[in-house]
Amino acid sequence: MKKMNIISFLSLFLSLVFSIATASSDLGLYPGYYDRVCPEALPTIKRVVEYAVAQERRMGASLLRLHFHDCFVNGCDASILLDQTSTIDSEKNAAPNANSARGFEVIDKIKLEVDKVCGRPVVSCADILTVAARDSVVALGGPSWNVKLGRRDSTTASRTAADANIPSPFMDLPALIKNFQDQGLDEEDLVVLSGAHTLGFAQCRTFRDRIYSDTNIDPAFASHLRTICPQVGSESSLAPLDPTPGSFDVKYFTDLVSKKGLLRSDQALFNGGKTDELVSEYNGDQNEFFEDFAESMIKMGDIKPLTGNRGQVRNNCRKVN
Ligand code: HEM
Repeated sequence: MKKMNIISFLSLFLSLVFSIATASSDLGLYPGYYDRVCPEALPTIKRVVEYAVAQERRMGASLLRLHFHDCFVNGCDASILLDQTSTIDSEKNAAPNANSARGFEVIDKIKLEVDKVCGRPVVSCADILTVAARDSVVALGGPSWNVKLGRRDSTTASRTAADANIPSPFMDLPALIKNFQDQGLDEEDLVVLSGAHTLGFAQCRTFRDRIYSDTNIDPAFASHLRTICPQVGSESSLAPLDPTPGSFDVKYFTDLVSKKGLLRSDQALFNGGKTDELVSEYNGDQNEFFEDFAESMIKMGDIKPLTGNRGQVRNNCRKVN
C-alpha cells in the first residue's frame, strides 16, 4: 500500500514536471529568453547597432522600419529577410520594400557576431530585428523598453502579403485605421507608431502627389520640396521625414500641426479628423509620446510570433536552413 502511494506520488510528480516543462517551452515571448542560453546576445546586438548608427545615423531609421515591415506581413518572423529563390517569393521585391528597405547588411553582421559570441545559432533573426529596432531608437535619443523575446524565424515569405499589408503613403485616415486594425493595432497605435517618422527619409516618388496636388500643405514647405522633387524624374531624391531626421523627438508632430507632414499618410493624421487631438497632445508632451511609443512597439512586436517548435532559428537570416 505504502509502496503504491510512493509510485503514484512519483508518477503524479513526474507528469506535473513534464507538463510544466512543455508549457514553459510555449510560454510565449518574455524578456529573459536568452538570459541563460546566451547572456551576451543583447549587449552584442546593441554594440553592432551603435557602431552602424555612428557610421550613418540614417541606419537607425532603416532598422526600425525593417522591424515594422517584418511584423505587418504574417507576424514578426523575419520573413522580410529571406532572399529570392525558386521557392521563396522574396518580400524584398514587394512595392513598399523594393529600392527602399535597407539595413540587411547590418542584420547579417549582427547575426554573425551574435552566433559567434553565443557559440551556436540560438538567437532568431526575428528577435534580432526586434532588438535592433529598440537599440536604434535609443541610439537616436528615443525611449527604451524591455523587448519580449523568443520569436522564431519563418520558413516562408510572401511578396503578395507584403504588397497587401504594408500601408501605402497614399492612404487616407480610414484606410490607415483599417490597415492597423487588421494587425490588432488601434488608432492610438497608428498615431504613435507613425511618430517613427521622426527619423529618416523618403523618396520623391512617395511624396510627389502630395506636393503638387494636395491643399492641406504649407505652401512654402511644398515649394521647397518641389526643388528636390520635380514633376518628372528624380524618383529617388530624398527629403527628411521631419526637420531632425537623425533625432528621435516630437518634431514630426510639430510638422503635422503646421501642415508640414511629408507623406499624405502623415498629414492624414492631422487633417480635421479624430486623431487630431492625439497629434496635438504628442506635440506638446514628449514624455507621453515616448511612453506610448514604447508601449505600442511592444504591442507591434507581439504580432503573430512563431514560438515553441514552430518555425526555426535560421543559421543565415537570408536563407531557410
Ligand atoms: C502609418 C503608415 C505608414 C506608412 C504609409 C509609411 C510609409 C513610409 C514611406 C513611404 C517611407 C519612405 C520610404 C522610401 O521613400 O524609400 C517611410 C519611411 C520610414 N518609415 Fe514609415 N510608414 C508608416 C508607418 C511606419 C511605422 C509604424 C514605422 C515604425 C514603427 C515606420 C518607420 C519608418 C522609418 C523609420 C522610415 C525612414 C526609413 C529610412 O530612412 O531608411 N513607418 N515610411
